[in-house]
Amino acid sequence: MKILFATSEAVPLVKTGGLADVSGALPLALRREGADVRLLMPGYRSVLTGAGDGWETVADLALPPFPPARLLATTLPGGLPLLAIECPPLFDREGGLYQRRAGEDWPDNDIRFGLLSRVAALLAQESSPLGWRPDLLHCNDWQTGLAPAFLAASGGGAPTLLTIHNLAFQGIFQTGTLARVGLPWDLYRVDGVEYYGNISFLKAGIQFATRLTTVSPTYAREIQSEPLGFGLQGLLAWRSRDLTGILNGIDEQTWDPARDPHLPRRYDATSLPRKEASKRALQVALGLDADPKAPLLGAVSRLTHQKGLDLLIACIEPLLESGLQLAVLGSGEPELESAFTGLAQRYPGRAGVRLGFDEAFSHLVEAGADFFVMPSRFEPCGLNQMYSQRYGTPVVARTTGGLADSITDAGAGPGTVPDATGFLFRDPTPEALAEALDRAVGAFAHRRVWRRMQRAGMARDFSWDAAARTYLELYRSLV
Ligand code: ADP
Ligand code: GLC
Repeated sequence: MKILFATSEAVPLVKTGGLADVSGALPLALRREGADVRLLMPGYRSVLTGAGDGWETVADLALPPFPPARLLATTLPGGLPLLAIECPPLFDREGGLYQRRAGEDWPDNDIRFGLLSRVAALLAQESSPLGWRPDLLHCNDWQTGLAPAFLAASGGGAPTLLTIHNLAFQGIFQTGTLARVGLPWDLYRVDGVEYYGNISFLKAGIQFATRLTTVSPTYAREIQSEPLGFGLQGLLAWRSRDLTGILNGIDEQTWDPARDPHLPRRYDATSLPRKEASKRALQVALGLDADPKAPLLGAVSRLTHQKGLDLLIACIEPLLESGLQLAVLGSGEPELESAFTGLAQRYPGRAGVRLGFDEAFSHLVEAGADFFVMPSRFEPCGLNQMYSQRYGTPVVARTTGGLADSITDAGAGPGTVPDATGFLFRDPTPEALAEALDRAVGAFAHRRVWRRMQRAGMARDFSWDAAARTYLELYRSLV
C-alpha cells in the first residue's frame, strides 16, 4: 500500500500544533504496519536545512500560475521518505508558518498552500513526474484541501482521504484566488469550492475527497451540527456516511517519563516519588514556592479562544489564595498572554508563566505538575491530555472531542471510579471548571486514591499502532 501523506507541518522539522505531532508520528506507525508512506511538505527554510544535506532534485515543477518550483527528496532519520517543494518566493521567509506575525496571515497563503495542494494532486496522477504513484493521497486540514478539487478538475487520480484536525481553520479566500491558483471557474459553485461568496480550501476538500476522517469519534459527531460545525455542519452531515473519527495516538518514544531527557529525574509507574524532582524543577524555573505539598496545576497551550483558558483566568484566584500553584506555558492572543502575566505578578510564588513556544519546557510541565488543565471550548483530539496521563498527571478537562474520548472521569467522591484518570466538566463556564478543579484538589489530598489515578493514566495505551491499523483498513477499503 503506497500512501502520499501531504501536510503543512511535521515534527521534528516544523510545528505550530498537534498537526505536526500527528504528521511526524502517524506515517512512521503506518510504515511499521508495512505501508510505503511518503511525506509531502512545503520546503520551508527549516525543512530544507533541518532534514540534512541528502537532498536530491526529483523534478522541476512548472505549474503556472504558480512560480517555478522544484520537487526535492530525502529520507528522515527514522527512515521516512520526505518530499519537499522548493519554491523560495513562497516558502523561504522569516516569520511564522501561516502568519507574518500574531494575527496577521501571510497575504499569499492561498498561493502557498494552493501550490502544496496542486503538487499533491499532481503526484497522485498518471502524469506524476515521480516514478512512484501512491495508491492513495492522504490530505490534512485546509492547507491540502484543494488537492481533491484539483484532481476533480483534471480528470481524477488516486482516491483521497482528508483528515480534519480543526474545523475552525478553513482557508477562506476571495474569489480572485481561483485565478491565483489556476482552478477553473466551473468549480465555483455551491457543491464545489464556493463558500458564502468566497473560496474555502477546507470545504473543497470535504466536498471532493473520497473519504473523510477527523481525529476523535466525539468530534466526528460534534461537527455535524452547530456550533462546532463552524458553518460546514450541513455538508458534513450530508457526507456523514463517509466520515469517521479516529483518535490520534501519541509518540511514545518522545513522550515517556522513563526516557525523557528533559526531566531532572526519570520515573515510571513503579517509581512515582521520583516525579517530585520534576515538580521542584518546575517550581524553581517559574519562581514558585518550593513546597512539595502544594497542589500544582499545569497548562501547555496555544492561548486562543478554542482552548478556554480565559475560563481558568476567571475562576483561579480563590484557588490560588487557598494554596494552589499554577504553571502555564503558552503563547497566542495578547490579551490572554497579559492576563496570565498579570496573574503571575499578583500571585508571586503561586502563579508562574512562561510565554513562548518551548518544547523542552513543555515536557517539564507535563511531568512536574500534579494535575493538568484543558478547559477547551472544542478539542478535535488534543494531545496534551494523553501526554499528561502518560506522565502520571491527571487531567481536568471539558467533555468535548478527543478529551471526552480519552479521559475517564473520577465521579463525585474520591476513589469512586477505580480506573479514573481525570476530572471532566460539561459547561464552558468558570463555575463548572472551578467545580472540577475543586474535585481534583480534593482527590489530590487522598494519597492512595491519587496514586491509583496516576497509575491508571500511565497504564493507558495511547500508542499509534491501533490508530495506524484503523487508517490502513480505511485505505484498503478505498483502493
Ligand atoms: P493544538 O494542535 O490545537 O494546539 P494539540 O493538543 O493537538 O492542540 O497539540 C498541541 C501541541 O503543541 C502539543 O504537542 C503541545 O505540547 C504543543 N504546544 C502547545 N503550546 C506549546 C508551547 N507554548 N510550547 C511548547 N509546546 C506547545
Ligand atoms: C488540531 C486540534 C487538536 C488535535 C490536532 C492534531 O490542532 O486543535 O485538538 O489534537 O489538530 O490532530
